[in-house]
Amino acid sequence: MPIFSKLLPGSVRVAETRTELDDGPRFWQEDQYVADAVETRQQEFRTVRICARQALAEFGHGDHILVPDEHRAPEWPPNIVGSMTHAPGLRAAAVASTGEFRGIGIDAEPHQALPAEVVDVILLPVERRLAARLQAEDPGIAWDKLMFSAKESVFKTWYPLARRWLDFLECEITVGHEPGAFTARILQASPVHSGVDLSVLCGKWMNESPVGHGLLATAITVQ
Ligand SMILES: CC(C)(COP(=O)(O)OP(=O)(O)OC[C@H]1O[C@@H](n2cnc3c(N)ncnc32)[C@H](O)[C@@H]1OP(=O)(O)O)[C@@H](O)C(=O)NCCC(=O)NCCS
Repeated sequence: MPIFSKLLPGSVRVAETRTELDDGPRFWQEDQYVADAVETRQQEFRTVRICARQALAEFGHGDHILVPDEHRAPEWPPNIVGSMTHAPGLRAAAVASTGEFRGIGIDAEPHQALPAEVVDVILLPVERRLAARLQAEDPGIAWDKLMFSAKESVFKTWYPLARRWLDFLECEITVGHEPGAFTARILQASPVHSGVDLSVLCGKWMNESPVGHGLLATAITVQ
């Protein structure tokens, strides 16, 4: 079962691959966007879009061209929300109807601790304390990396609705109350955008294997 199918409601269409894909139509607009990128970036960009079109096909949009906007956000077909991620050994896309969800964010990361030098930039003091406590209780999870991934999922959910930047320290992640769940509290004033209250986002997470191996994944939906 795809990782993100475990984390998202059944009405969200998920397509994932563990290998690079090269089937399906090629679109010059997408090729042009990554024409100057290194080959590995071109491959992940193409593969995740093949996944996205597989998922979009269930909504009749299997030939949608996915060129990023000026802020790198994907432009989905009308009445569709979605999100994409690439991590080592995984490309994934998740899409849904706006009739069911107003926003989606997904993210996968290698299951390794956050580099010490970036922790202060990513995590609030209260999050660092929580990560340290959880680390002592369960050293099998890279709790700081989990919070980072949760924030990446927050941003991918947030940006298409808010159309404004959200700093890592403008969001507080709480994990641990319910297994496999997290909550994100947005610390910006008036976080209501496109008619959606984004002040608290609820998400799910999972790890494939203990820290040092496999991937961590997080996902958020907003109704
Ligand atoms: C945009 C960002 C979240 C992408 O995450 P990442 O871990 O680097 O990369 P992933 O492979 O998981 O995701 C990349 C995909 O994110 C999506 N994405 C990029 N910018 C986006 C945006 N502004 N809005 C929504 N989705 C976006 C794209 O689909 C992209 O795939 P593509 O490059 O093939 O088009 C990250 O690079 C970033 O800029 N983070 C800073 C902002 C942030 O996270 N703030 C924290 C808020 S709490």
